[in-house]
Amino acid sequence: MDRRAFLTAAAAAGLAQVVTPEQAFARAAASQPAWSLAVGDVMGDIPRQSLRRIHGKPPAGLAGTLYRNGPARFRRPGGDATHWFDGDGLVRAFRIGPDDASLEAKFVDTFKRRQDAAARAVITPGFGTLGSDRAVIGSADDTNAANTALLPIGGELLALWEAGSPYSVDPATLETRGLKTFSPELAHMPFLAHPRIEPGGRVWNLGLAGRRAIVWTLAPSGAVERTTLVDLPRASFIHDFTATDRHLVIVLQPLIQDRMVLPFVDAFSWRPEEGTQVLVLDKDDLSRRRLYDLPAFFFFHLGDAWAEADGTVRFDACLDSTPDFAVHGARDILTGKPAPNGVSLAMVALHPDGRAELNRTPLTAEFPRADPRRAGLSRSKTIINSVRTQGRPLLRGVGVSDWRTGKADLFDYGPDHCAEELLFVPRPGDGNELGGWLVGTSLNLKARATELHVFDAAHVSDGPLCSWRAEVGLPVGFHGAWVGG
Ligand SMILES: [Fe+2]
Repeated sequence: MDRRAFLTAAAAAGLAQVVTPEQAFARAAASQPAWSLAVGDVMGDIPRQSLRRIHGKPPAGLAGTLYRNGPARFRRPGGDATHWFDGDGLVRAFRIGPDDASLEAKFVDTFKRRQDAAARAVITPGFGTLGSDRAVIGSADDTNAANTALLPIGGELLALWEAGSPYSVDPATLETRGLKTFSPELAHMPFLAHPRIEPGGRVWNLGLAGRRAIVWTLAPSGAVERTTLVDLPRASFIHDFTATDRHLVIVLQPLIQDRMVLPFVDAFSWRPEEGTQVLVLDKDDLSRRRLYDLPAFFFFHLGDAWAEADGTVRFDACLDSTPDFAVHGARDILTGKPAPNGVSLAMVALHPDGRAELNRTPLTAEFPRADPRRAGLSRSKTIINSVRTQGRPLLRGVGVSDWRTGKADLFDYGPDHCAEELLFVPRPGDGNELGGWLVGTSLNLKARATELHVFDAAHVSDGPLCSWRAEVGLPVGFHGAWVGG
């Protein structure tokens, strides 16, 4: 090699070394499949923008805000989150008025986000991200991503996570007010992302610590009515629980915490031979309990439960046969690998004589929701995300499954969309179970834009009554809440 060739090669090698982490990240992102926009990074807050109406017109009487939460920043120059559940929480507000709609989004200003930003790397450990020993952790709230769900209560909007306190967000500006501490002795107590809300507004929730749970009861004003510690038969992974009007129903799947390691998900073992247990507690006396046995299954989400006249407790659930998605798939998804996810709809019946029944259906289903006026009361419909695409981890359709007929009324957004959760919004003056609208979002991968849709709940397969499109494509989120008016 002559001197010129040597210097040219050396210069090229030198150039390779000065590629910044940001450039390397951009190159890596460019090689990902189209659906990876669903787990892409949002680099900053999204100022309020009008949404462009692309189909239909908004139904008369529908006005309010769809708040949604979900992880939206996973990667930093010096190191990334390695699990989907560990991105920073971005609160989105989709505001629907009589004539127009808008979108605004702000990150929850968490200690975790500040710490990772200052380090220019994701150093804070999370659900499935190991983090670094450079992270300062004084309590679970120092790892709180506030990225899972939202609870509007008492004039506040609470951004919820699984293992820590809620963060209070201003519903009008989306500015973070700070960690929500209900009282000094309850500081940093865990508050699950899936509270159950009675039709009158009382809130029930759990916080988990191994085989112990704190049961929260909040008044509709947001004030704590009561907290009670209860013992559980096993230290299951609990993302969600359910409730009838008189009972709490805690499903204890055989994904069991049996060691103290980081990250959190690695502290659990899958023990299908031990089956699933269901603990039913009396809301009026939490020491009164019944325990049922079911076959092993994995789940994230349950529907609202209800009791029938003979005392049978029923609830719907979205079940998988293993926890592979939670443990591995939700890691792979961040690197563009399609993750296996076999989730489908099921119904559980807990009979007064102690028998428990599990009826699984073949219908692909996640994010089960229902009419909030019927929470804890008998109903026959389950609102879901559905419709798979081969080779893609996220669903692309929505619908309503009817337990009486066994049929599902589905709408497929198409292969260019990733569907997000649908919420039921009652039509004023209409008390029927499907007497209202379904409001939800999708990510249009082709347009690289988030869309907002409104369906007639009784005619989902007819397609949206109205759709709007944003100027930005936000990553797919988890759960939301509707605030009318
Ligand atoms: Fe969830």
